[in-house]
Amino acid sequence: MACRKWYMGTNTKMYKTIADTNRFVSDLCTLTADIPREKFELFVIPSYTTLDQAGRNRDSRLLKLGAQNMCWEEQGQFTGEISPLMLREVGCDLVMIGHSERRHIFMETDEMERAKVRSALEHGFTALLCIGETEEEKAAGRTAEVLRRQLETGLRDVEIPQLNRVWVAYEPVWAIGVNGKPITIAYADEMLSAIREILCDIFGVSGEDVPIFYGGSVNPENAVPLSRCRDINGLFIGRSAWDAEKFNRLIRQVLESRMQEDSDACGRSHEQRKE
Ligand code: PGA
Repeated sequence: MACRKWYMGTNTKMYKTIADTNRFVSDLCTLTADIPREKFELFVIPSYTTLDQAGRNRDSRLLKLGAQNMCWEEQGQFTGEISPLMLREVGCDLVMIGHSERRHIFMETDEMERAKVRSALEHGFTALLCIGETEEEKAAGRTAEVLRRQLETGLRDVEIPQLNRVWVAYEPVWAIGVNGKPITIAYADEMLSAIREILCDIFGVSGEDVPIFYGGSVNPENAVPLSRCRDINGLFIGRSAWDAEKFNRLIRQVLESRMQEDSDACGRSHEQRKE
């Protein structure tokens, strides 16, 4: 499990100017340059206006850049929206779809997320679909049903060959942001495994290969325990990642623990072979 590729990324929401983002992205590239990227993927999802310059300043081998949202249409009468062609023009690699703030403040529906996932994949992006239950849904015992609906609808048009460009982030709405409540590792573990099961129901064995991330108040205390969940492939972080030095420390903390797990697992299989 620990040998699988590991992902860490941040959405900077409606923070950071062009200058702030340039500095953040270039500091992050410098600070993490020594970490081999074959088994580790780093990504930043800043605001639209920063993408062009950040795209030119970053080393694309070290850092992937994403957009926080995207319209499903290429052009048209969609005031205030951004087109896949515009995002391609600025060298964006991935598009985040259905973040809880889009779903719950701007009232995006599962059908809209479905159209966006489809369009993002058609335009060559990686689609990062965010899902998660609200506090009310959790209290009503409806979490599993909500996650299934968000995945089944959001990914309905995805073909198996496109699946290597689909990432899923589990972000319980009640755990996100300054008012977020703490999540227990056991709960995260259970939900991440439920998501893996739903992905396998939808896509068969190919569902095993879709990276699943956890997001929602990830911090230096819970990052390592969360990273040990059975079905997790990465962490998607807000506030705790917005300072490049702190983010770098968090990345190293998690990677070191994963390396330790790897060597323990190797030691165990060596012992077993001797028996
Ligand atoms: P947070 O944000 O880590 O600040 O809770 C997570 C997110 O919104 O993706």
